[in-house]
Amino acid sequence: MISQQTAASNVGSKFNFNFSISDNKKLQMSAKTFDEWRKYIYDVSGIYFQDNKKYLLESRLQKRINYLGLDSFEKYLEYVKFNPQREAEKKQLFEAITINETYFFRNQPQFDALVQHIVPELLNDPRKLNKKKLRIWSAASSSGEEAYTIAMVLTELILPKYPGLQVEIIGTDINYAVVENAKRGIYKEYSIRNTPPLYLKKYFIPRENNTMEVIPEIKKMVKFKILNLYDDAGMRMMNNFDVIFCANVLIYFNLESKKKVVEHLYNALNPVGYLFIGYSESLHGISKAFRLVSFPKTIGYKKE
Ligand SMILES: C[S@@+](CC[C@H](N)C(=O)[O-])C[C@H]1O[C@@H](n2cnc3c(N)ncnc32)[C@H](O)[C@@H]1O
Repeated sequence: MISQQTAASNVGSKFNFNFSISDNKKLQMSAKTFDEWRKYIYDVSGIYFQDNKKYLLESRLQKRINYLGLDSFEKYLEYVKFNPQREAEKKQLFEAITINETYFFRNQPQFDALVQHIVPELLNDPRKLNKKKLRIWSAASSSGEEAYTIAMVLTELILPKYPGLQVEIIGTDINYAVVENAKRGIYKEYSIRNTPPLYLKKYFIPRENNTMEVIPEIKKMVKFKILNLYDDAGMRMMNNFDVIFCANVLIYFNLESKKKVVEHLYNALNPVGYLFIGYSESLHGISKAFRLVSFPKTIGYKKE
């Protein structure tokens, strides 16, 4: 047993937990506590842990519990809900529970559809009011690979044809740490494994330890910020997008939170805008507001 002066002990008398725990003690979560935890996580993020994800939740929370020197899932839940610094702790919680898998050029047919069909169509559509500007949102952008891929393909294939076109790309995520990584724009081999050689050569600078940094011209096109897709107030601030990519995040929500998020995405789009979701995701049973449009090897959802 290792005695720890805990991090939690610094945050006020009600939370003066000075537990003596083993660093590696494996905690068990009861069915009741699992229900309480998943309700809380759902309420604050829309993420819903299915019954078969109990083990995953346990192992994700256990790391944070060890760090804080707490000794049970119940105490950590109380800590997250009630300690005076709960907003800061929520940030840590989101870091612990989200899955941030992503890479450059993850869904190439979507980027092909964007440059070959969607952008030319939008820039010719009389219903698109501002023809000088294109606004694109990578919602749940994780560490930024999707947002930067969009900036790269537009720079390579659209901007030479439409000189003077302004491109604004926003990447958002609930996880503070990945948003910071996105701003840094430095990636390991894993992230760039699917990147075509031309793009690797033109849009990255080799850095130490086999990492690659996105060039400043591309970084300048993308702004990253924290945004919880399940937060109504924050979502209402997101407006006037021509295209939204919201890929591989709806899978973590349940039907109710999917519906709510997709309705916000619909409202955030310009009248003729497009939504892309992940390769294995569908809006079937979630929204009837969009028209499904087929492109080579992918589909998009058009607001009409
Ligand atoms: C698997 S990654 C997908 C990244 C990228 N869109 C892609 O397709 O490669 C899922 C991301 O969704 C984010 N996420 C989960 N719940 C969220 C929420 N309620 N609001 C915003 N982002 C969320 C996670 O932090 C994670 O970075």
